[in-house]
Amino acid sequence: MSHITENLTFAMIKPEAVKKNVIGSIIALIEEKNFTVCGLSMVRLTLERAQAFYKVHEDRPFYQALCDYMCTGKIVAMVLKKENAVQDFRTLIGATNPKEALAGTIRNQFGTSIEENAIHGSDSDTNAQKEIHFFFNQ
Ligand code: GTP
Ligand code: MG
Repeated sequence: MSHITENLTFAMIKPEAVKKNVIGSIIALIEEKNFTVCGLSMVRLTLERAQAFYKVHEDRPFYQALCDYMCTGKIVAMVLKKENAVQDFRTLIGATNPKEALAGTIRNQFGTSIEENAIHGSDSDTNAQKEIHFFFNQ
C-alpha cells in the first residue's frame, strides 16, 4: 500500500472559505499545481467529529475554539494525488498564519486569521492516511 498512500494527501477547505464562495478558486489553484482530486465530500462536522479530528491538539490552548470554529459551517474534504503530495501541498497552502504565508499560497490569498486560515493539509504520510480514512473509509 505504501507506494499508493505516499502519493496522497488529505485537504479540507474550512468553513470561512466555504462561506466566502472560494471553493472553486481554491480547487483551481490545487489543480493548476498538478494535484488530482480523487475524493471529495462536503459535510458539516459535529463537535464530536471535530474534536476527534483535531485530537492531536487537545492540550493546545486553542483546541476548543478551533473545534467550535470547524463546526460553524460545511467543510470540503478532499483526497489529493500527486508525487510528493504531502510536502508539496504544505508548500502550496503556506504558513499557519495567513499573514506569514508567502504570496501565491492558498492561505495568503484566502485565509482570514491564524484560526480561520482557509484550508487544512496533512503534515505526514501517516496522518494523511489516517485523515483520509476518517472521511472516506468508514
Ligand atoms: P492544519 O493544516 O489545519 O493542521 O494547520 P497547520 O498544520 O498549519 O497548524 P497546526 O496543526 O499547528 O494547527 C491546526 C489548526 O489550529 C490551524 O490550522 C489553525 O486553524 C488552528 N491554530 C493553530 N495555531 C493557532 C493559534 O495559535 N490560535 C488559534 N486560535 N488557532 C490556531
Ligand atoms: Mg496541522
